[in-house]
Amino acid sequence: MSVAKPLPHDAALLHVTGQARYVDDIPAPAGTLHLAFGLSGIAHGRITDIDLAAVRAAPGVVRVLTADDLPFANDVSAGAHDEPLLADGMVHHLGQPVFLVVAETHLAARKAARLGRITYDELRPILTIDEALEAGSRFEEGPRIWSRGDAATAIDAAPHHIEGRMEIGGQEHFYLEGQAAFALPQENGDTVVHSSTQHPTEIQHKVAEALGLPMSGVRVEVRRMGGGFGGKESQGNALAVACAVAARLTGRPCKMRYDRDDDMVITGKRHDFRISYRVGFDDQGRVQGIEFIQLCRCGWAQDLSLAVADRAMLHADNAYFLPNVRIESHRLRTNTQSATAFRGFGGPQGIVGIERVMDHIAHHLGRDPLDIRQANFYAPAGDQVTPYGMPVTDSIIGALTERLARTSGYHARRRAAAEWNAANPVLKKGIALTPVKFGISFTLSHLNQAGALVHVYQDGSIHLNHGGTEMGQGLFQKVAQVAAAGFGVDVSRVRITATDTGKVPNTSATAASSGSDLNGMAVKAAVDTIRTRLAEMLAQEHQCAPGDVRFADDRVQVGGADYAFEEVVHRAYTQRISLSATGFYQTPGLSWDRIRGEGRPFFYFAYGAAVSEVVLDTLTGENRILRTDILHDAGASLNPALDKGQVEGGFVQGAGWLTTEELVWDDKGRLRTHAPSTYKIPACGDRPRILNVALWDGENPADTIYRSKAVGEPPLMHGISVLMALSDAVAACGDAYPALDAPATAERLLWATRQVEVDEL
Ligand code: MTE
Ligand code: MOS
Repeated sequence: MSVAKPLPHDAALLHVTGQARYVDDIPAPAGTLHLAFGLSGIAHGRITDIDLAAVRAAPGVVRVLTADDLPFANDVSAGAHDEPLLADGMVHHLGQPVFLVVAETHLAARKAARLGRITYDELRPILTIDEALEAGSRFEEGPRIWSRGDAATAIDAAPHHIEGRMEIGGQEHFYLEGQAAFALPQENGDTVVHSSTQHPTEIQHKVAEALGLPMSGVRVEVRRMGGGFGGKESQGNALAVACAVAARLTGRPCKMRYDRDDDMVITGKRHDFRISYRVGFDDQGRVQGIEFIQLCRCGWAQDLSLAVADRAMLHADNAYFLPNVRIESHRLRTNTQSATAFRGFGGPQGIVGIERVMDHIAHHLGRDPLDIRQANFYAPAGDQVTPYGMPVTDSIIGALTERLARTSGYHARRRAAAEWNAANPVLKKGIALTPVKFGISFTLSHLNQAGALVHVYQDGSIHLNHGGTEMGQGLFQKVAQVAAAGFGVDVSRVRITATDTGKVPNTSATAASSGSDLNGMAVKAAVDTIRTRLAEMLAQEHQCAPGDVRFADDRVQVGGADYAFEEVVHRAYTQRISLSATGFYQTPGLSWDRIRGEGRPFFYFAYGAAVSEVVLDTLTGENRILRTDILHDAGASLNPALDKGQVEGGFVQGAGWLTTEELVWDDKGRLRTHAPSTYKIPACGDRPRILNVALWDGENPADTIYRSKAVGEPPLMHGISVLMALSDAVAACGDAYPALDAPATAERLLWATRQVEVDEL
């Protein structure tokens, strides 16, 4: 099949010329109003008074709303009903929306929102992991525990054991387009909402609840997001609901977008974790028994935290067989932003934990960490089972790692780095190779479904729609390629259209990297239906089997005849054959018990590995990535150009998370890093001087769309190679194990270089 083509992103030209239309670019009708939230100035307390006189009197203000003014549900939570749109008596984090300003302009709304006078009975906020533990502030009653075998006994019986602990910071999504929504009131109280969301159906659901409408009274449209990264799975609900309610109350279109500072202060981020471990291993570094305690800081509302914490547990093994294992997970409730989905959805934190363990074992045994990793890899044979009882039948991690080690010159460069370090007292080099194995599917099994709607018009042009959303990852182009391949036509014939809850209903969020797996299959089903109708028509005319009709190169061939695609389509139209179809797909074979931690949560695993080499200035902690080589498994890639883009972007985002991106809250719960001036994402200059990205050449053994693999999230974990390379460079400064926390900022690295020396004395 000719699906795989390295075509550019369908909107590449629009992106780079600034013509791509985002929510805030949609031409607004005259009379459109603009919204801004008034925010809580404290992290925890009871509201005793809200004085909005100055807000109401401010220029351009049309309406000011508090919780009491909401006509129906005051809830924008993803499911737990614990997240009011506007604070209802209590405030739970600094930055929580308390009142809503509706004004003639964006600036007027923002200025007025500052004039509210809220008084509180202040309560002591619970901000840190330690405070939450002490107060017993958590989302599930006790910790969740999954285990296999007897880890404690196996650890004690092993020839070697070590233990340690690591802090892993959160991460701001920093999508370039901030959160935005735009509601247009329709006749009969119905509403159309444009939202920058990964989850149009949830927006529809929450807006319907807030307006007292059935879901059929709300239509949500999403053409694209300027990045979502998980930050737009649930965090867009508040803006969409605010716009819809304000539009209902005023009868005018309403629009809202967060300023960057507001976006960072209001919305949730990646969960930060503390992971403690105790591990027993043999002389080869093979793990005999291991215990993890994962402490997960969830913020004030539940949001998606339970599923995120579950996925961290599900990835505590990464690519390694752990014979005896116990994983304990605490989901802690704090008076900070409600932590949410972020590329990898907890998986990256779990994987950092075990990668730290591998590195620590190697240091303890005085071995190359790659040897230890390889000694623990899942065997390709398929007789090894994950801690949650799923056999690993598709492991290519051994072969993939071997190839990457060879093509990147890992062993020679490791020797060269050691020689360099022996000769250079100030600049130290480090190199590390880290693998990733990432489970593909939503762990909430019923979400693994998708729908599509395909129309062929009488001129032979094709209208494509499905439930997935486009956030820059290239989903729309990949799925258009699937449609084009099905009809045997050029992709230019396929019109990509905005995601629309009126066209495809009951969709899942575009998340868990499953966008192309699910929607690609649904689109293929719809295309197959229409193509079969065309083939049956021609087969009847030519007295042959439908299977003898060939669709290729924009032509249709049957029994010696050769028609243009549009000719066949037009013929079908005149014969009154339907040229429109829906398609549906559900991932087969999933079963998962999240309480017992047992079953088959994933359809398959995606694999990859990365080698990074860094140089560290031990006088300042400054550092550079000299070179990174990545070999990533996208199965039989639907589009190698887009997939490589995902690998590069994921790697850079992962490296940023673990190095320079630091979130700092003060002791009042105020986020001090709420703008690019204080929160440092990677810039062009931070990229590796040499970056080699290659795709593993192989088909997905699982029956996915043209045997491709999901590629959205797994490459983020390649950033872990940078953290481990930095740890390797620090290790060259002394004898003690660096035990580096993340993010490994320059300050933290400088401190660590001193620490390993001190411990040496
Ligand atoms: N790539 C870009 N450019 N922008 C994004 O927002 N989100 C990531 C990933 N890659 C994202 C991205 C996340 S968190 C996920 S889950 C997947 O894309 C979602 O899209 P997919 O399922 O189509 O891969
Ligand atoms: Mo991605 S974190 O599953 O939106």
